[in-house]
Amino acid sequence: MQIKNAVIPAAGFGTRMLPATKSQPKEMLPIVDKPTIQYVIEEAVASGIEDIILIVGRDKRAIEDHFDYSFELEYTLEKTGKLDLLKEVRQISDMVRIHYVRQKEPLGLGHAIYCAKMHVGNAPFAVLLPDDLIISDKPAIRQMIDVYDESKGAVLAVKRVAEQQVSSYGILDAEEIDKQLFMVRDMVEKPSPAEAPSNLAVMGRYILSPEIFSILENLPPGKNNEIQLTDAIRVLNKTRQVYGYAYEGQRYDVGNKEGFLRATVELALKRPELQESFRRYIKDLAVKL
Ligand code: UTP
Repeated sequence: MQIKNAVIPAAGFGTRMLPATKSQPKEMLPIVDKPTIQYVIEEAVASGIEDIILIVGRDKRAIEDHFDYSFELEYTLEKTGKLDLLKEVRQISDMVRIHYVRQKEPLGLGHAIYCAKMHVGNAPFAVLLPDDLIISDKPAIRQMIDVYDESKGAVLAVKRVAEQQVSSYGILDAEEIDKQLFMVRDMVEKPSPAEAPSNLAVMGRYILSPEIFSILENLPPGKNNEIQLTDAIRVLNKTRQVYGYAYEGQRYDVGNKEGFLRATVELALKRPELQESFRRYIKDLAVKL
């Protein structure tokens, strides 16, 4: 079955980016000139996704408006002859179908995914966490859909991390099939370096099968009293093989300040219109440090 649906959970409070996130979703904070959520939706669209189920909380307005037509703006851009900008703005609204589902209370990532049940139905689907920006030639979620098409198992994006970082991630206990593919035996959420079964950390991209919904429905709250997606995937692994896939690409954790700044600097350096002057600025700055 082809993967056409992607779930993007965006109902968290974003406390690590306060006060910027007090009255706007963190997914609308821009990297250079584009909201982070747009990068992630573009990745999904470039991977063949046709329907996005966006799980939102209280402050969804700005996201909805961003992906909707903006009649007054488009009219003004047309009248003033700013046709390139007009085209860019229109493309954002025409890109893909987005369905908004409200998570009334932030009961955890697992619960946020469960909120998509009615829209996803009985088909495998992709999950993209908008905190993780992954820049790659072939979109990361496309790489994972290809692994799913071959294996028919669930697929988790993984990346090797330094020993002192394992306590920030879900870590795999897994058997290596090849350099990029791993068969999951089990997972541990945020272990200490001594407890970690490997340094393979789960990143914010998943391909899941619809059985995950019935598992989530009956799952008790786990760590931090939240319904944890990791707990549900451990149960899923008993009946359907779960794989870890070491995707190709550069990942930025834009849900925290340092990751956000790194993404801003590195993506600005890739922009043709900023490349020359911004590179010069960074070089001069580096000399002063
Ligand atoms: P995080 O753990 O990063 O939480 O959620 P957060 O609230 O967004 O950020 P901080 O830690 O307070 O700064 C991981 C992803 O899961 C979503 C978040 O929006 C984020 O994309 N999420 C989390 C939900 O949609 N609902 C929840 O109940 C929890």
